[in-house]
Amino acid sequence: MKKVFLSLGSILLMGTLLGNTAEAAKVKIGMTVDDLRLERWQRDRDIFTAEANKLGADVVAVSANGDSDKQMRDAENLISQGIDILVVIPNNGDVMGAIVDQAHQDGIKVLAYDRLLTNSDVDAYISFDNEKVGELQGKAIVEAMPKGRYFMMGGSPTDNNAKMFRAGQMKAVQPLVDKGDIVIVGDQWVKDWLPEEAMKIMENALTANDNKIDAVVASNDSTAGGAIQALAAQNLSGKVPISGQDADLAAVKRVVDGTQTVTVYKPIPKLAKEAAALAVKMANNEKLNMNMTVNNGYKEVPSLLLEPIAVTKNNVKDTIVKDGFHSEKDVFGK
Ligand code: GAL
Repeated sequence: MKKVFLSLGSILLMGTLLGNTAEAAKVKIGMTVDDLRLERWQRDRDIFTAEANKLGADVVAVSANGDSDKQMRDAENLISQGIDILVVIPNNGDVMGAIVDQAHQDGIKVLAYDRLLTNSDVDAYISFDNEKVGELQGKAIVEAMPKGRYFMMGGSPTDNNAKMFRAGQMKAVQPLVDKGDIVIVGDQWVKDWLPEEAMKIMENALTANDNKIDAVVASNDSTAGGAIQALAAQNLSGKVPISGQDADLAAVKRVVDGTQTVTVYKPIPKLAKEAAALAVKMANNEKLNMNMTVNNGYKEVPSLLLEPIAVTKNNVKDTIVKDGFHSEKDVFGK
C-alpha cells in the first residue's frame, strides 16, 4: 500500500482549517439585558450562559442598566459583532421592537426573553404565563385581606409584563371591589422596578392615607422590598399583606419572617435553559417546539410560556429549597 507522508506544514494547515471550521461553526449568541442590577436577571444570564456553553455556543451578555437608549446601542453593537442570534430582555418592549428589522437585515433572528417585543416581527418569545403571575399575587392578598383599603403598586410602565401582571391581579381584586369589600385608595407604577422608587411611592401613599392602608398588591420582589421599608418605618410591616415575584433571596426571607405574604416563583433555571436551547435552534434554523402564540400588536408570535408558582411560608421548602433555587441555609439561616 502506498504510504502518504504529509509535511508538517500541511498537517498544521489542516489543523488550523479544522480549528477555524469548528470555531466558525460555534454559535455566537448576543444577549441584551435591561438591567443586571436586579438579582433575578443575574441568575437568568448565568444559567443561560452555562447552558448555551454546554450546547457549544458562546454568549456575549450586556446590561443596559435600565437605560432604553443604551440598550438600543448595545443591541446594534452586538449585531455589528457578527452574532448568530439576538436575545432581548427589553427595558421598553415597544422601543426595542425596532431592533428586530435591523437584526433581520443581517440575517439574525431575535428571541424575546421573558418580556415581549411589541409591534415588531420578532421571531419567538419565551416567558411565563404572566397574567397567571398577577392572578396568584392578587389571590394571595385577597385571601389575607378580603376587605379593606388597597394600594396597587404596578411594575415599570415600560414593561409589557407589568401590564399582564396587573390584568391578572385585577381578576382576583375587581370582584371584591365590585362588591364594595375592597376600596383601591391608590395606584402607582414603579419606574424601572427600582426599590427606591417603590419606597418613595409607599411613603407618599401612607402619608396621603394617614397610614390607613390595609393591603398592597406589589408586582415584584424588588418593589415589594422598597414598599416594606416604608411600611416598617410606620411599624406596619408584617401587618399589611403585600405581594411580590421572583423569589429573590431577601424576599423569600421576608416571606418566612412574615413581612411579605407571597412571592411568585418562576423557575428561572427552566426558563433560562429552555431559552438557551431555543436560541441555538434558532441560530441553526431548526424547527421550534412552541406551545402557543402571543399577539404582540404586529403578529402572532410563536411562544413558549412556563407555569409560575405561588410561594408562601407554607411551601418555601417544597419549591424554592427543593429546586435548589436557594439553599435551606440561605433561607432559614441554619
Ligand atoms: C419583569 C419580570 C419580573 C420582574 C421584573 C423586574 O419583566 O417578568 O420577573 O422581575 O421584570 O425585573
